[in-house]
Amino acid sequence: MLNFSFQNTTQILFGEGQIAALKKQIPSDAKVLVTYGGGSIKSNGVYDQVAAALSDHTWFEFSGIEPNPTYDTLIKSLDIIKENDVDFILAVGGGSVVDGSKFIAAAALFEGEDPWDIVSKQARIKKALPLACVLTLPATGSESNVGAVVTRDGNKLAFHNPLVRPIFAVLDPAVTLSLSDRQISNGVVDAFVHTMEQYLTYSVNGKVQDRFAEGLLLTLIEDGPKALVSETSQDLEVRGNIMWAATMALNGLIGAGVPQDWSTHMIGHELTGTHNIDHARTLSIVLPAVMKVCRDAKREKLLQYAERIWNITDGDEESRINRAIESTEQFFEMMQVPTRLSHVDLGEADIDLLIEKLTQHGMVKLGEHGAITPEVSREILVTAL
Ligand code: NZQ
Ligand code: ZN
Repeated sequence: MLNFSFQNTTQILFGEGQIAALKKQIPSDAKVLVTYGGGSIKSNGVYDQVAAALSDHTWFEFSGIEPNPTYDTLIKSLDIIKENDVDFILAVGGGSVVDGSKFIAAAALFEGEDPWDIVSKQARIKKALPLACVLTLPATGSESNVGAVVTRDGNKLAFHNPLVRPIFAVLDPAVTLSLSDRQISNGVVDAFVHTMEQYLTYSVNGKVQDRFAEGLLLTLIEDGPKALVSETSQDLEVRGNIMWAATMALNGLIGAGVPQDWSTHMIGHELTGTHNIDHARTLSIVLPAVMKVCRDAKREKLLQYAERIWNITDGDEESRINRAIESTEQFFEMMQVPTRLSHVDLGEADIDLLIEKLTQHGMVKLGEHGAITPEVSREILVTAL
């Protein structure tokens, strides 16, 4: 396996009722800004639980962080932070709220001229406000990683910095019961593709990483559909397994010491930035096409994936790979997400702009070999038609 350095300092508070732990987890003299989205936490009781836990704290709130959070919204929080000397941020929501709050935490103490430089120019961050979160949607892994994605004028861009890693994350599977089927599907598929981005590359004999990744894929395949059928959808064990799998899929563990791909995500970000398609739904469209176009570069891992995930052991290599890709598409279909551009009403005429955007954003050498040039991205998108 490759050399690596691994550290994940986020404390995980997992289980029902853990929101109450906020009382002790956040320093009693902190001035807290609670950040959240469009109001789901008000209708499902999470807001009330947070308010009860913070009853002895001084706290303020900033709401309205939208899915695929925008710079224009996030930047408005800086006034509240300055006016009230806020020194702790508590994000309560899904990946968008956590990501947006990471940007806020860095922007609040940014020493440069324009906080957008953090994202657009990868400007150096020297400090950030301490941040923690109550996760309400298992999907992104943002609750215990160092990444965040922010959008401005259709440009959806990421930044990474250890200073914005949440100090702790509350994972209460019960709060996910109010999610719509669409958001559950999105979460399972996002976590699945995160695992694939770090697994389906080329072998470096990272046995631990491979088997951890395979455990996550199998868990998501086993329990993801259960969260969508009425008999099992309210089962907290199902919800808990999905939630923990999603965190583990992108907390740095399975990606340490192995090559990583991320081309599906980078192409997907352009689909969201340009056409506002849900993040996970861009991934379910792009990943099968990446598997098809990059099948030679990924051959060994595709065969391992076929055998260990889908029990495909008979037939020649080409047919095993084909069936593994088909099984992946069938899993996505079972999770009720699109697998073709045509499923979201996009066609060949839309590809030029996506390639232009990828190029503009410097996404010209994607994948574990840096071999996915704009021409190859075009082939991937054509394959996804
Ligand atoms: O805004 P509210 O009202 O809270 O509603 C949200 C939102 O409409 C709703 N929701 C969340 N929890 C709920 C709930 N509804 C009912 N009950 C609950 N318990 O769900 C909707 C979608 O939320 P969002 O946060 O946008 O979803 P997700 O967690 O999938 O986050 C997606 C964002 O994360 C980024 C994506 O690009 C996208 O911007 N990602 C972040 C990553 C990271 N930081 O490492 C990696 C990922 O690959 C991804 O790129
Ligand atoms: Zn993702």
